[in-house]
Amino acid sequence: MTSLFTPFPLKDVTLKNRIAVPPMCQYSAIDGIPNDWHLAHYSQLARGGAGLVIVEATAVSADGRITPGCLGIWNEEQATEHAKIVTAIKKTGAVPGIQIAHAGMKASANKPWEGDDHLPVSDSKAWETIAPSAVPFGTDALSRIPRAMSKDDIARVQNDFVTAAKRALDAGYEWLELHFAHGYLAQSFFSHHTNQRDDEYGGNAENRGRYLLETMKAVRDVWPENLPFTMRFGVLEFDGHDSQTVEESIELTKKFKDNGLDFMSVSVGFSTPTASIPWGPAFLAPYAKRVRDEVGIPVGSAWGFDTPSLADASVRNKDLDVVFVGRAHLANPHWSYKAALDLGIKEPEHMLPDQYRYWLEKYHMRRA
Ligand SMILES: Cc1cc2nc3c(=O)[nH]c(=O)nc-3n(C[C@H](O)[C@H](O)[C@H](O)COP(=O)(O)O)c2cc1C
Repeated sequence: MTSLFTPFPLKDVTLKNRIAVPPMCQYSAIDGIPNDWHLAHYSQLARGGAGLVIVEATAVSADGRITPGCLGIWNEEQATEHAKIVTAIKKTGAVPGIQIAHAGMKASANKPWEGDDHLPVSDSKAWETIAPSAVPFGTDALSRIPRAMSKDDIARVQNDFVTAAKRALDAGYEWLELHFAHGYLAQSFFSHHTNQRDDEYGGNAENRGRYLLETMKAVRDVWPENLPFTMRFGVLEFDGHDSQTVEESIELTKKFKDNGLDFMSVSVGFSTPTASIPWGPAFLAPYAKRVRDEVGIPVGSAWGFDTPSLADASVRNKDLDVVFVGRAHLANPHWSYKAALDLGIKEPEHMLPDQYRYWLEKYHMRRA
C-alpha cells in the first residue's frame, strides 16, 4: 500500500518520500537576491529528509514581490545565487523546487513582523500595485487600491513568468510551481471578488480563468516535458459560494491538465477578507481529493497535515499524493525523521546525511 514513505515518481523526477516542504517566504532578501540566510535555511530543511523542498514565492519582477524582502528571479545575479540553493538541496537527495509568483494587489507591503500592511505610498520603498481591477483586498492593513491592468500589462507579466521559468531551469530547479493561489495576481483574476473586468479576462468563469490558462500555457512551452510542471491554486474561498467555485476550479483544472499541468497543490483562494475558513487538521483534504478524482491529476495540500499519522493516512486514503508540511518544518527541520520514527519506519536514520546518520545509529539515539 502506498504510504508517506513510498517514493513518488513524476515525469523524470522521483521524490524519495511523499513529504514536501511548501514554499514559505523568508522576507530576508535585498533586491530579491538569495543570501546566506536562504542558503542555510533551505539546506537545513533539505537535510531533514523531505523528498521535495520548494523555495518560497519568488517574484518574476520587482513589482511582483509581496515585500521589499522577497526573493526574485528576474535577473542573472539572483539566478546565480538560486543555483547555490539548488546544489545544496540536491546534495541531500531532495528535489529542488521553486514557486514563481506575482503578488498583484497584495504587493508593496511590510514584512509580517513589521506590520504585514501595505507600505504607505509616500514610503520610498513602496511601488505601484497592479491587479485585474482597481479593487483592493479590503482589510485595513491591505487597503491600497491597485491599478487595473491594461492588456499590455497582462502580456508583460506573462512574459516575465516565461523568463523566470527559463532562469529557474538554468539555475537547476527540477520542479516548477506557478503561484496561482492566495489572492495574489493569478488568483485575483479568477476570483469574482476582485475581478470586475468587462473584457475577455473578466465575467464568466471561462474569462476569469483566461489569464491563468494563457500564462500556464506560455510557461509550459519553455519548461521541459520531462520535469514536473505544477501549480498552487486556491480552489475555493470559504465565502458562501463554495460549491460553484469548486465546480469552476475543477473545470479550469481539467483545462490545465489538458494543456500539460502535471500536479496541483490544492489551496485556499484568500482573495477576500469576508471568508470564513474552517481551520483545522486536514480541512482541505476533501477538496484535494475531489480535484484528484474528478480531474485525474496527482495532488498535494498543506494546512494542518503536520502530524505524522495524519500525513500518512492522507496518502494511504488516496486523499493526497504528496503531503506539504510547512510550519512544523520551521519548528523541527528534521520533521521527516521524526515522522519516520513515529511511524516505525525501518532504519529511519538512513534518511539523514551520513554526518548525522552515523552517530544516531551508532549510539541508538532515536530522538527528534
Ligand atoms: C512563514 C510562512 C511563509 C509562507 N510563504 C508562502 C509562500 O511563499 N507561498 C505559498 O504558496 N504559501 C506560503 N505560505 C503557506 C505555506 O506554504 C503553507 O500552506 C502553510 O504554512 C500551511 O501549512 P502548515 O499547516 O503545514 O504550516 C507561507 C506560510 C508561512 C508560515
